[in-house]
Amino acid sequence: MTGQVRGVQLARLLGQWHALPGRRRSPDYAALAGTVRGLLADGRLPLGVRLPAERELAEALRISRTTVTAAYRQLRETGHLASRRGAGSWTMLPGNHRVASTGLWTPLDDREMLDLGVAALAAPPQLLSAARAATEDLPRYLSGAGYHPTGIIELREAVADAYTARGLPTSPDQIMVTSGTQHALDLVLRLALAPGGTVLVESPTYPNALAALAGRRARITTHGLAADAGWEPDLLLGSLRQTRPKLAYLIPEFQNPTGHLMPASLRERVVAAAHAVGTDLIIDESFVDLSMDGTELPPPVATYDRHSRVVSIGGMSKPYWGGLRIGWVRASAPQVQRLAAVRVGVDMASPVLDQLVAVHLLADAEAIVADRRVQLAVQRDALLGALAHRLPEWRVTVPRGGVTLWAELDGPVSSALARAAEEVGVRLAPGPRFGLDGTLERFLRLPFTLPAADLVEAVGRIAAVRYDLDRAGRQRWREPAVIA
Ligand SMILES: Cc1ncc(COP(=O)(O)O)c(C=O)c1O
Repeated sequence: MTGQVRGVQLARLLGQWHALPGRRRSPDYAALAGTVRGLLADGRLPLGVRLPAERELAEALRISRTTVTAAYRQLRETGHLASRRGAGSWTMLPGNHRVASTGLWTPLDDREMLDLGVAALAAPPQLLSAARAATEDLPRYLSGAGYHPTGIIELREAVADAYTARGLPTSPDQIMVTSGTQHALDLVLRLALAPGGTVLVESPTYPNALAALAGRRARITTHGLAADAGWEPDLLLGSLRQTRPKLAYLIPEFQNPTGHLMPASLRERVVAAAHAVGTDLIIDESFVDLSMDGTELPPPVATYDRHSRVVSIGGMSKPYWGGLRIGWVRASAPQVQRLAAVRVGVDMASPVLDQLVAVHLLADAEAIVADRRVQLAVQRDALLGALAHRLPEWRVTVPRGGVTLWAELDGPVSSALARAAEEVGVRLAPGPRFGLDGTLERFLRLPFTLPAADLVEAVGRIAAVRYDLDRAGRQRWREPAVIA
């Protein structure tokens, strides 16, 4: 068991359950049970949580207790609820399905494959000149041993300056350079989380973060994001207060995969709630540079931190190039020293030459990032246009930044669609990859990091196989497809 949902919280998640389309034909208890199943399948209601007692939910929904009793009975019969007399009822999926959320995402060497599994851009043209300039700088470092566990000072200064420019005064001794954001996350987990510790994550979330957490044998609880609205403040704060996790891992800027941007007011409340319950926050700022449509960014989450509760991580991969393998941690200076001590036992330090390349790219940040934003906006719009044309039943919330959109499909077919798309040369990352336990089958992440023509072509091929899936017979709600 990882927690419990209170009656008022479940009532909020259930929303307009009694007025769903086609509802008039089914009794109340069936509509209630069906909505709970939908919430489970979409990852908005976590698995393994205790549902409110029947009386409590009946009061919260202002319906009779017999309706709730019948709904719970039906959920038990369909395998969505396990009950123990006197102890309560826990959410589950039929047949105890679980899906591995880890997996290799490296594209195969297949030139014809349109790879929508990886959400990252090709290198910007300025990369080559930055690399050449870096080799010119290298001699300055060659007389030393070349090990800089916290990173070379020039890069730490450049990263610290960027935080300061975002309104968060930062000194270089608060920065540790890492080999990518993923490495930053792994190091922070090594320092801050004992094996088996509890961590709250968003659902859906970044799959490789789940892999890093699995590596620490973390016990994970989830906060389900609403497809259109993102974080639900009271539910998120309620989860923090109830589960009191050791850590929470959040992606507040253009969340991967949903593209949502956390508003300033929630940032402030999350930091306050985390401090009150003793939770440390890992804030992944991978996409912070990539806002579009003139969207103003709220202050960094760490702005609201007075007690060194917030550790921010970020890197070069999304605005610049993943192949550079440069990321960083922003924390208090003592935390950085502790992280460096951990790091020495892992990989000692990051390559000096790559760090010098990063310094040159950051010196040209304004121009490079401006180009990236324009490129991404064009590609996003091409993807949205192709979807509207070829798959008009799919629903998407237009992301105002980042590199991905989170499509709500016309059925729980994401894994089946990914398998079929592979046959026609499109690699997809299906919804369940972004959650736990086989949920999120109704969703698909679509990155807009490929050129517009490739995105249009990919959507055409996806639409063709989607149509074939229908002819082969629709998947049903109660049989979530599993990838192992
Ligand atoms: C949210 C998030 N965090 C971390 C990473 C990993 O980034 P890096 O290549 O810097 O390790 C990614 C890459 O997709 C990401 O989307």
